[in-house]
Amino acid sequence: MKLLSRARLAFSLLVSSVILASTALPVESSETELLVLTPDNFETTVSEGVWFVEHFSPYCGHCRNFAPTWKQLVEQTEKKADPGIHLAQVNCAIDGDLCRKNKVDGYPQMNLYKNGKYVETFKKARSLEILTEYLDAHAEPRAPPAPTTTAAPEPTAEPAPAVREKKPDVNPSGTVLKLNEANFRTYVDKGGILVKFFAPWCGHCKKLAPIWEQLAGEMQHTLEVAEVNCEDHGALCRLEGVSGYPMLFYYGGKEAKTEYTGARKLEPLKAFADKVSGPGVQELKYGELEARVAENSVLYLLLYAPSDRAIFNQVVDASHVLFGSPPLYTSSSSAFYDHYNIKAGTVAIVALKDHDPNVPAAVYEIPKPVSTADDRQELVDWLLRNRLPTALELDSDNFQDVMNAPHKPLVVLVATASRDLKQTAKEVGELARKWRDARGRAPVVFAWMDADKWGKWLKSMYGIKAGGLPRAVVANHTSLVYWDTDQFGETISLTSASVFSAVNGAMKGTIPYKHSENTIERLARYLNDKLVSVETYVVSNPWHTALWGFVLLIALFLGIKRLLSDTEDSREGGYLRKGGRLD
Ligand SMILES: *[C@@H]1O[C@H](CO)[C@@H](O)[C@H](O)[C@H]1NC(C)=O
Repeated sequence: MKLLSRARLAFSLLVSSVILASTALPVESSETELLVLTPDNFETTVSEGVWFVEHFSPYCGHCRNFAPTWKQLVEQTEKKADPGIHLAQVNCAIDGDLCRKNKVDGYPQMNLYKNGKYVETFKKARSLEILTEYLDAHAEPRAPPAPTTTAAPEPTAEPAPAVREKKPDVNPSGTVLKLNEANFRTYVDKGGILVKFFAPWCGHCKKLAPIWEQLAGEMQHTLEVAEVNCEDHGALCRLEGVSGYPMLFYYGGKEAKTEYTGARKLEPLKAFADKVSGPGVQELKYGELEARVAENSVLYLLLYAPSDRAIFNQVVDASHVLFGSPPLYTSSSSAFYDHYNIKAGTVAIVALKDHDPNVPAAVYEIPKPVSTADDRQELVDWLLRNRLPTALELDSDNFQDVMNAPHKPLVVLVATASRDLKQTAKEVGELARKWRDARGRAPVVFAWMDADKWGKWLKSMYGIKAGGLPRAVVANHTSLVYWDTDQFGETISLTSASVFSAVNGAMKGTIPYKHSENTIERLARYLNDKLVSVETYVVSNPWHTALWGFVLLIALFLGIKRLLSDTEDSREGGYLRKGGRLD
């Protein structure tokens, strides 16, 4: 996971865990930012523009010697505003089939592609000078170099005429606003803008493009919908922490930025846009309580005295992290104070869940005033920690919100067959309520999942097979570990005794955990360790090397075979894994 977060633009969302495996191998140091292509994205990636692709194997000496030169070449190219040529690699130890397809007959081999077509294989000496010359000769910059867009953005340098300032209206034309180094900060600091970071060659981006246009149309006069082309404005994208394409952010103001991780279809995007552009908070009348609670599986109610206006503003400001989910209602009515038995004069937020208007799932008494950064952080943490319903069905839309919630919760996850969804939902709901009532605030999420829909994922993450459903595990997605037995050493069953003992054991560390990472990552790590120790051995025992070399070759052969079959397996499933996420 560390590797993944360190990797930047190069490791796009398209790149599956195969890349994670390849970065664990010895030839690449972790700080290089090289684009490694896989069978999944090779064709779509090279389909546009000029591409110079190095095919290498981490086990080849020439490749290792050449690695620093390649890195320099990449850096040199990336520095240019419009290099007109792209560099990428293919790891043949992992994607042997792709290398065979690309007619690779030695390492390293560099092929030139133009708009998806093979042009030639580079045959000259692999020196930086000759390669630079070669790239310059084949590059096809888009336009004559524009002197104004240099790599280092100077916000004050140019009061760009493109900046639509002093418009009385947001998104007046209902079209996608194009942002660049010159106008980005102006728009983003104002807040209320949804930005798509993309690269023209990426497949998911192409799919999203027409939807994004539609969204801009729908949000005319309501919300700015913008985009940044990361190929033209790479520095800006890096500065904004873009680690894959496309990446969507909502900017609520100077510091308030949140990634949109939901489905990239019009409907959910529109719902999100409506939420962020809608009224931030709504006043709740006592008589409306039941109706609002019936509508929302979670809602927050801020109780404050009119004289606490400053705190009110601070809470509203902090609540932007929620993007309207759950909604925040406010009231100063003493009826609510009585209803929830909260001392008059206190400022408090009440979390109401599971359509229960009477017993709050949690209450947060806000210190007066919210003066320090710590106070504010505590408030934000509370808002994020309590936002989920007690129990929910996990799917790709809420996966990020649940599994990667900032408070790193344990998740009790029950896999069940489609036909049993209702029954399981009921049982999980009951367990969740029991847990909540008995333990108060321990941050455990209860969820169920359709095993007919997510069978492959459940199997690879938690070893759950189709037989013997429903099956429960306790998972910590942050550290990619899970528990599938309770403290009695039995497979977790759907009883409170079993589930709660498993959760307790997981929290206290008294039950052994298992790793969710898939075989390919583990195998890569294993090979990596082996290789390092073999190298040490070769140096000190040259006479035994031949024998061990032979053994290693066999191990590698078997390993690579395994890797390839594993890769195919994960591709078949029709989902993309990035740190085990659903997509
Ligand atoms: C889950 O794992 C993360 C990372 O190791 C850890 O910080 C967190 O406390 C764990 N969560 C629980 C509830 O144990």
